[in-house]
Amino acid sequence: MKIIKTIKEMQLISDNHKIEGKKVAVVPTMGFLHSGHATLISKAKQLAEIVVTTLFVNPKQFAPHEDFEKYPRDLERDFQTASSNGSDYLFLPDIREMYPIGFHTTIQINDITEPFEGQFRPGHFDGVATVVAKLFNAVRPNIAIFGQKDYQQSLLIKKLNHDLNFGIDIVIAPTIREADGLAMSSRNTYL
Ligand code: PAF
Repeated sequence: MKIIKTIKEMQLISDNHKIEGKKVAVVPTMGFLHSGHATLISKAKQLAEIVVTTLFVNPKQFAPHEDFEKYPRDLERDFQTASSNGSDYLFLPDIREMYPIGFHTTIQINDITEPFEGQFRPGHFDGVATVVAKLFNAVRPNIAIFGQKDYQQSLLIKKLNHDLNFGIDIVIAPTIREADGLAMSSRNTYL
């Protein structure tokens, strides 16, 4: 698996694979991958010849009181998990690649983001919509796979794809659970 750090290189690689007639699937993540992510990556490999896992802990989706600084990170283990489940590329941009000085765009999706999690996490869904749009433009995938665990997020992503005409096949994969029924999540490490 190759690590790609710039948007330009990622776009070039993806465009070249598509010119070769191959499908490209993306699995966006914030890292600290678990079996739920592994399942998404294997599913992506069933649906497309080329799989790109993205790893970017997106500061814009954390409210000031949230856990951005202590969000769990383990790049070495993530590399192993992504590559052993069939990922061809790990897109690993740094903060300045995603949000250069002077970046002033926010994507806001109304209505579906207002109730539930939206009430308790101001700005969270704007941050998710903005970064997912950037990741879509960086990877230019045919297919994007997300977990159903973040149900409201999955609705937002479908809406983003539709409203901004990305034309990507959005696949929402079932939640993977621990033996006791708890949905797998990188933040379960806090428990
Ligand atoms: O579900 C997540 O891990 C994140 O919200 C996502 C979609 C990768 C955007 O940062």
